[in-house]
Amino acid sequence: MSATSIDLKEEILRLKQEKNAVILAHNYQVGEIQDLADYVGDSLGLAYRAQETDADVICFCGVHFMAETAKIVNPTKTVILPDADAGCSLEQACPAEDLEAFLKANEEKNYYVIAYINCSAGVKALCDVICTSGNAVHIVNQAPADRPILFVPDANLGAWVMEQTGRKMDLWKGSCYVHVEFTQNSIQRIKDEYPDALVVAHPECTTAVRLLADEVCSTEKMVTYCKEAPVDNIIVVTESGMLHRLQKEAPEKNLIPGPTDKCACNDCVYMKMNTLEKLRDCLAALSPTVEMPESTRQRAELPLLRMLEQSK
Ligand code: 13P
Ligand code: SF4
Repeated sequence: MSATSIDLKEEILRLKQEKNAVILAHNYQVGEIQDLADYVGDSLGLAYRAQETDADVICFCGVHFMAETAKIVNPTKTVILPDADAGCSLEQACPAEDLEAFLKANEEKNYYVIAYINCSAGVKALCDVICTSGNAVHIVNQAPADRPILFVPDANLGAWVMEQTGRKMDLWKGSCYVHVEFTQNSIQRIKDEYPDALVVAHPECTTAVRLLADEVCSTEKMVTYCKEAPVDNIIVVTESGMLHRLQKEAPEKNLIPGPTDKCACNDCVYMKMNTLEKLRDCLAALSPTVEMPESTRQRAELPLLRMLEQSK
């Protein structure tokens, strides 16, 4: 580790204390950010941590919708993020105006709208309940039986949840640009190379890839799965940052990153926008912050609180 990197880490820890901040990081963050964070987890764990914290500042190392979620559930806190441009292809696939127009055009259907947490506050404000990959099956199982469900914005996650619950849903046609890079061919090839390996995949993968997996789950559940797997070789089909967390938690396992057809396509450019330098700068300046109109926040809070309550 270089002297500058040690200085930077010390500065971040000093600023964190000085500002009474908590650092929350998603499992896809670069290893050096994960190692500095107070908590590392999936979208669901991070939402609970953001809601519970009594720190003055929530420094969110993930992507924008995750930091926005923290602000929605804990509005009196200052919520900052290292790079305000860290977006998400799923969020972009479902602009709030498009969802609003769709719901208006289909008013007679009286949809029960379930939104995957990877969406904007504006979209959350239009929904009945939110879910994450960690609780989607559980949340869909609790949806009113007499209403048709519209599931936004991830069609792949939605298809998996339909299989798991037997509940039919109309799906918005969004996808994660990282997870759709894994293909049936690329995963079959690595399985052939390691015939005794188990495969764990994120539900944002396509159905063809999921069908090759032994387990489909959220990033946090991957940690437990890898720790408890009765084999040494595990093929991990998700974003590259996950390997850092898994290697730390299951050091005895041989974790093999699932390949894509092209090379190095399993990096989420948005997740990787955050760097130690930007983390230091945002703590020093307490900027950029997450802000939104209070009316949007209040409307987005209801379906989020419903989710947090229903998944306890
Ligand atoms: P998890 O909630 O499973 O961590 O997923 C978040 C995400 O963005 C996956 O691409
Ligand atoms: Fe969004 Fe995909 Fe990146 Fe997750 S990995 S933040 S779903 S673009």
